[in-house]
This record gives sequence, structure tokens and C-alpha cells, in this order.
Amino acid sequence: MSKKVDLSVNYCGVQFLNPFMLSSSPVSNCAEMVARSFETGWAGVSYKTLVTDKIPIFHPSPRMHGYNYGDKRLVGLQNVEQTTDRGLKPNLRDITWLKKKYPKHIVMASIMGFCNQDWADLSKAVSDAGADLIELNFSCPHMTVEGSGAKVGQVHDLVQKFTETARSVTRVPLVAKMTPNISDINEPAMAAKRGGAKGLSAINTVAGLSEVGLDDFVPRPNVFGKGAISGYSGPAVKPVGLRCVAQMAQNKEHGLPISGMGGIETWVDALEYLLVGATTVQVTTGIIHYGYRIVEDMIEGLSDYMASKKITRVKDLVGKALPRLHETGDFDVKRQGIAKYDFDKCVGCGQCYIVCRDAGGSALEWDNGARRPIHDKDKCLSCMVCSFVCPVSGLINFKEMPKTWKRKETLTLG
Ligand SMILES: Cc1cc2nc3c(=O)[nH]c(=O)nc-3n(C[C@H](O)[C@H](O)[C@H](O)COP(=O)(O)O)c2cc1C
Repeated sequence: MSKKVDLSVNYCGVQFLNPFMLSSSPVSNCAEMVARSFETGWAGVSYKTLVTDKIPIFHPSPRMHGYNYGDKRLVGLQNVEQTTDRGLKPNLRDITWLKKKYPKHIVMASIMGFCNQDWADLSKAVSDAGADLIELNFSCPHMTVEGSGAKVGQVHDLVQKFTETARSVTRVPLVAKMTPNISDINEPAMAAKRGGAKGLSAINTVAGLSEVGLDDFVPRPNVFGKGAISGYSGPAVKPVGLRCVAQMAQNKEHGLPISGMGGIETWVDALEYLLVGATTVQVTTGIIHYGYRIVEDMIEGLSDYMASKKITRVKDLVGKALPRLHETGDFDVKRQGIAKYDFDKCVGCGQCYIVCRDAGGSALEWDNGARRPIHDKDKCLSCMVCSFVCPVSGLINFKEMPKTWKRKETLTLG
């Protein structure tokens, strides 16, 4: 790691060695696993969600389904896993052990109550066990216990009430974990703030249905002939996660620090979350795909990036893209451009021609002899669909046109 940059961050008044955390899930299920992750470089953990022992938790079998698209493995992950099925006592012991063995690493205890008293009991229990932060899980979309998880996160009064309950029994900073399965994520965020939350985290999984069996007609995962709408995560949900984090970061009314997650696998993904306002980032599906070791590349990649930009503190990256995030109505539509081709690099596959004709401005003709497209600049819509399908990187780029330039009307028949 470069010595010139400082990866440490302060989130909710708690100091982290770097912004990288395990998110609450099977990757943070017990002390042995979390300890190995700390040794690999992760600075903190949101420990697998704890519940009281009053209602036993049973996971469906199988509990996950890997969604592949073409030959891309694990573009998304569908899961029907519940909160922890381990007893409360062994989990609390694990948290205490982790804090003793790794005092500089951060343990955020994720909890979920099934009634008001549970939120109080769990908050007190994890505080006594030594947790640095408490994450209130208002966001699992497929809990089988009535009135829990995302069902709570969608009712603002309950978010406020359960946060207040937790607040009344502990001084440990509270982080409300938000569901993306809602129209305005800032409504529950503000309710959490009113209840006394010091921070926010998002996103939990997106309610989804990723695949259906073509022979058995069972949505995946196939739990002995039954499927269910359930939690979807991984790279496919990153745009939703970034959007949710940005919307919360833009909201000055609560101004709470954010821990961002959803589809992070690389240092670039993590950096994008920082740039739209996250202070720490959390990962599950990336670890399910590649293991804890991905944090080594994340630390190195972020350090090198910061050194190359002469940015010494992660803090200076947080929210750096927000001043450039606008409403679409703010765009200057008087400025227009076209696609610019470097035909020397063209391999003559013709894919640009097909998509421009069928989905773009029909601005390309095909020269069959030369096996090259011919570009009518005045018809080009600058939709750039040609560049999305071109197999040669850098062949098609966007070019701004002078303000005096006028696009030709699209021809209609008749
Ligand atoms: C199998 C599985 C189990 C999960 N269990 C929990 C949980 O117990 N508590 C929780 O807050 N989030 C849980 N999550 C959600 C993750 O913490 C995270 O919010 C989500 O997966 C998005 O991040 P990712 O794309 O990096 O996986 C779980 C996710 C998966 C895939």
C-alpha cells in the first residue's frame, strides 16, 4: 500500500482503519470467519443479524441461487436466507471475543426485533457484548416472521419508534439499514434520524425474481418445488444501490453519514459509492463470488488511485460526485454531439450498422466491399448504441458539435 495516503475514515464517531466492511450475511456469520476477514484486511464487520431466541429461525434449503447471464457467472444472487439461526449467546460471545482480539477493528452488531421489547433487549445485549455500532435491520425483504424486516422499513412510524426504543437503552451509535424496496428512501431515513439514529446504511437486497425453471416452472431458488420473491444482490443491483446512497447523501435534512453497499466487487465499485456519498462500504456477494481476498485489491486499488490524484484522505472523496448529480431538467440540451469513428481500428463486424438501423438514428450505411460502415453525421442521434456493441475499445467516441450544427430530421414514409 502507498504510504502517502490515509485510508482511515470516521463513521458515526467510530474510527475505521479503512472504509471496507463485510456486510451482514453468511460472510459475517461467526467469530472465526470474521477474524479471518480482519486478518485479510477488512476493517470492520456488520455481523450477521441477531434476533432473540424466542422464535426459532430455519433457513429454506437451498437458500441461494446464483444468477448467470450468458457466460457471466453470478451477475446477481437470489437468496431466501433469514436472520442468524445461531443462538444469541454464542453470537454475543463471538462479538466480545472479536473486540478483545481485534480492538482496532470495528464490530457493528446487526439486530432485528420481532416486537418493541426485542429491539430493547437486543440493543442492550449487543452493547454489553462490546459492539462499536448497532445496525438496525429494517430491510430484509423476505422475512417469514410477520411484521419484520422490510415490512418495518416501509412504515416510517415504526422505523422511528424502534430506533427510539434502541436509543433509550444504549449509547452505542445506531445505524438504520434501509430497504431499496420503497419509493422514497429518504422518508424512512428521516424517521430513523428522528428516532435517534447516528447513521444510515443501504441497500439491503432488492425484492426480485431472477430466474424461472423452464422444465419445472419453479422460480429460483427451487425449495422443493416452491420459489418466492426474495432478496436479489450482486453486480446487477449496483445502480440501485448507488442511486439510493446518492439520494440519501443529497438530503441535507438528515445529513447522516452513510455506509453504502450493493454489488461492490472491486475498488472501482467501492470508490463510486464513496464519490456519491458513502463513508464506509460493505460487501457480501463479491465475497460469496471470490472470497475475503478481494479486499487486498480494494486497498491497493484505492490507495493507488488516491496517490495518482494527490488525494491523501478518503474523507476528501466522500460525496465528490454529488455537485455534478442533477435533475435531468438541468441538462443543457442546446449542446449536442455525434458518435465519432476511428475507422482505422474497424474489424468490419457490422454490429454498429445493425443497431444504428434498428435502434438508433439509421445514420450508418454499409459498404459491403470495404466491410465498413459509412457514417452520415447529420443523422447521428448521439445515442451511442453503436459504441455499446462495438467489439473494439476506443473505436467509437462521443464528439461535441458546434452550437450552429443542426441534426437532419428522421425520414418518415409517406
Ligand atoms: C445470503 C444473504 C444473506 C443476507 N443476510 C442478511 C442479514 O442477515 N442481515 C442484513 O442486514 N442483510 C443481509 N443480507 C444483505 C446484505 O448484507 C447486503 O445488504 C446485500 O446483499 C447487498 O450487498 P451485496 O450486493 O454486496 O451482496 C444478506 C444477503 C445475502 C446474499
